[in-house]
Amino acid sequence: MTEQSVVTTEKAKPVLPDAQIVKSVTHYTDHLFSFRLSRPQSLRFRSGEFVMIGLMGDPDEKTGKQRPLLRAYSIASPSWDEELEFYSIKVQDGPLTSKLQNIKVGDEVIVRPKPVGTLVLDALLPAKRMYFIATGTGIAPFASLMRDPDLYERYDEVIMCHTCREVAELKYGADLIASLATDPLIGEMVGDKLKYYPTTTREESPKMGRITTLMKDGTLAADLGLPPLNPETDRLMVCGSMGLNTDIKEICEAAGLTEGSNSAPAEFVVEKAFVG
Ligand code: A2P
Repeated sequence: MTEQSVVTTEKAKPVLPDAQIVKSVTHYTDHLFSFRLSRPQSLRFRSGEFVMIGLMGDPDEKTGKQRPLLRAYSIASPSWDEELEFYSIKVQDGPLTSKLQNIKVGDEVIVRPKPVGTLVLDALLPAKRMYFIATGTGIAPFASLMRDPDLYERYDEVIMCHTCREVAELKYGADLIASLATDPLIGEMVGDKLKYYPTTTREESPKMGRITTLMKDGTLAADLGLPPLNPETDRLMVCGSMGLNTDIKEICEAAGLTEGSNSAPAEFVVEKAFVG
């Protein structure tokens, strides 16, 4: 069940420096939640980038001073959105997420105004087809990019692959993708260009298995009627654990694709999913 709190009361102005106001919070599982914040007027970013966000830590035992507790988080909302969205794990003894998971509408969250990252469209050379490959909360940068009209202007076909342990962990992405079809802003652009390929590894679902296995054994290609990876036509963006990133990098390089970056665009880009 998704538990959502909606805006009821709001503080007029943030009190902390760089703080933004919580607009909504949605809990997906005991380990996953998303939240939306007000957006600093001056914050410009490219869909797919990340920023440092956080809360004030506990007062120092000796000095009583509080320091901000910050972690890197992919911005899950697109660059045109007037709010900022984030998707996070909850770790019961995690310094930040043990507190962050309790935020309520009207609370403040610090957002440092320096977006960076490699999962941006400009880091890839033009091509026909884009693969987004994510595990767990690694879907966050793609939640941003899937809502960016630029993606559909640049690519004829977008394949969103998301692997999680359990079905409930797919819900954030599944709901988002379902909502795109009727999105007044980009619904028409998305059309049938976006193909969603969710898989689970530890709970029964229509498609089981790690995405790496399903790519290597030809299941993904057979299921979606796709040709083998080709540097001429295909681009990939990868966001997950170190293991996933290394394994997909190997698959890409074996198919003749070269890793790109902001300064040297090429055929695939990789970023570690951030742990809050
Ligand atoms: P698995 O259950 O087989 O480990 P985690 O919760 O550990 O971050 O994992 C999220 C999802 O990513 C799980 O479904 C997990 O599968 C999968 N996964 C972990 N490592 C890899 C990898 N190297 N390649 C592909 N999928 C992976």
